[in-house]
Amino acid sequence: MKRVGIVGLGKYLPKRILTNLDLEKMVDTTDEWITTRTGIKERRLVSKDEAASDLAIKAGRQALMDAGLKSDDLDLIIVATVTPDMQFPSTACFVQSGLGAHRAVCFDISAACAGFIYAIVVAQQFIARGTYKNALVIGAEVLSSITDWQDRSTCVLFGDGAGAVILGPVSSGGILSTYLGSDGTKTDLLLVPAGGSRKPASYQTIKERMHYIKMQGNELFKVAVLTMTEVAKIAIEKAGLKPSDIDLFIPHQANIRIIMAMAKKLNLPIQKIYLNIERYGNMSSASTAIALCEAVKEGRVRKGDIVLLDAFGAGLVWGACVIKW
Ligand code: ACO
Repeated sequence: MKRVGIVGLGKYLPKRILTNLDLEKMVDTTDEWITTRTGIKERRLVSKDEAASDLAIKAGRQALMDAGLKSDDLDLIIVATVTPDMQFPSTACFVQSGLGAHRAVCFDISAACAGFIYAIVVAQQFIARGTYKNALVIGAEVLSSITDWQDRSTCVLFGDGAGAVILGPVSSGGILSTYLGSDGTKTDLLLVPAGGSRKPASYQTIKERMHYIKMQGNELFKVAVLTMTEVAKIAIEKAGLKPSDIDLFIPHQANIRIIMAMAKKLNLPIQKIYLNIERYGNMSSASTAIALCEAVKEGRVRKGDIVLLDAFGAGLVWGACVIKW
């Protein structure tokens, strides 16, 4: 089995910024409520003609440049998204075309906020076995397209963006451990009820606003803290390490209070946690991808550092990954 690591990173955030003050004019909320309950100050939103693949292509191009590769070098493209351009073809196929990555095998993964980590684990299997050499893994979301802008309990939380990595064989370091899990008994906690085969789009489903995110935030909050902490511990142990060995913890950015509760349970000081929730909100599968890219570009990750990625989302699904840089 080959050792697999991250050899390039990229990100793209749409230009349009929606602040908490803007939201105060749209729904019955306040900057104070959003800031204290979630840690979010602003989020990015796509322009009218931008879809998930547009963001993904820009992030992917940057990751290719960072890795010093050409699009023809790519063997595999996986896009993690719950907001694909269309039901089909896969968003990864649009990305392939946009990048001109003619040789790549392309498909999407639907694992909500844990999608980026799921996609890393899938790509890792192909590279470790020598089936493929260079994989582009992207978390790309246009959550604004499934956000109910009349529902104050959800619309303050989400944003749009894309983060990308190139995975390939490395001679030292790389992915030390991964851990994934799912619990299909709690699908009702976070879902978009209509638009699929269960409830195809109709006048009624649109009238009832069923094409938007429905979330039982309070219930999810408790499960998120417990599950993400447990998952982190398992991945750290699988890597033969202790929580104190982690140099940088990059959690899914859903709520600052979830992150702080976990940090306390793992005994990790704030200096070891990467946060960008204040600027972007929750971008589902793009959150951990963009946070990883920014952490590395800002010099928060140095050679030899141990990085922990940890995410949790609708499904329920969760995943963690320990990487030696
Ligand atoms: N502004 C003002 N008041 C609000 C707002 C708002 N934007 N939203 C809700 N409230 C009110 C509620 O109506 C409620 O009022 P009431 O007490 O009079 O009924 C009160 O604030 C408290 O509401 P709660 O839902 O209990 O607030 P909570 O502290 O739980 O915060 C939040 C809500 C931020 C959603 C939190 O529960 C959370 O972050 N949950 C987890 C989200 C998550 O982890 N998602 C998973 C990943 S996302 C993915 O997969 C795409």
